[in-house]
Amino acid sequence: MIEKLDALYKQMIEKSAEKYSNKVVVGEGLVDKPKLMLIGEAPGAQEEREGKPFVGKAGKNLTELLNSISIRREDIFISNVVKIRPSKVSKAGNIVNRPPNNEEKAFFIPWLYREVRLIKPQGIVTLGNVALSAFLGNAATIGDFHGKWHNIKVNFNGEIIDIRLFPLYHPAAIIYNRALIYTYNEDLAVLAKSLQ
Ligand code: URA
Repeated sequence: MIEKLDALYKQMIEKSAEKYSNKVVVGEGLVDKPKLMLIGEAPGAQEEREGKPFVGKAGKNLTELLNSISIRREDIFISNVVKIRPSKVSKAGNIVNRPPNNEEKAFFIPWLYREVRLIKPQGIVTLGNVALSAFLGNAATIGDFHGKWHNIKVNFNGEIIDIRLFPLYHPAAIIYNRALIYTYNEDLAVLAKSLQ
């Protein structure tokens, strides 16, 4: 299994290098039918530096999330939709994060499907709108889907992949929108109960 995933990532890294100069940050964790696969938006600066998803501040938020549902990081698989850091130069001349653009999403989503098809997680938790839209399309918004399990089918090159999906708000969104905390915690409680 791990060999197949490594081969997939090798291919993805080669294809990405034809288009993007940024370092690719692949997923990590339990690769064979984990209870959960957590999917974020894209790596940030710290992730790019360390070559791992959700480290640094985002990692701290994720650890809190996992603690609240009594799951250890090493018992699940963690990845991102877009696997390079989307960045731009700010007015002050610094390299800062930006949301992934349509071209980056279109490039990486098929690789995400291949990753999911290989790992076969028992459930997928998406964090935020970008990860939700990767499975349900751009019209899907987190406000309509968060906090429940959805059985969905994804058509990947004519092959139907069955997915159990539990969308959550992105933990980083909670920092900017304190009003979401109550909803977010309620969603986590529902998720925790469903995993017992
Ligand atoms: N770090 C990640 O790896 N993904 C996110 O979505 C945010 C921070």
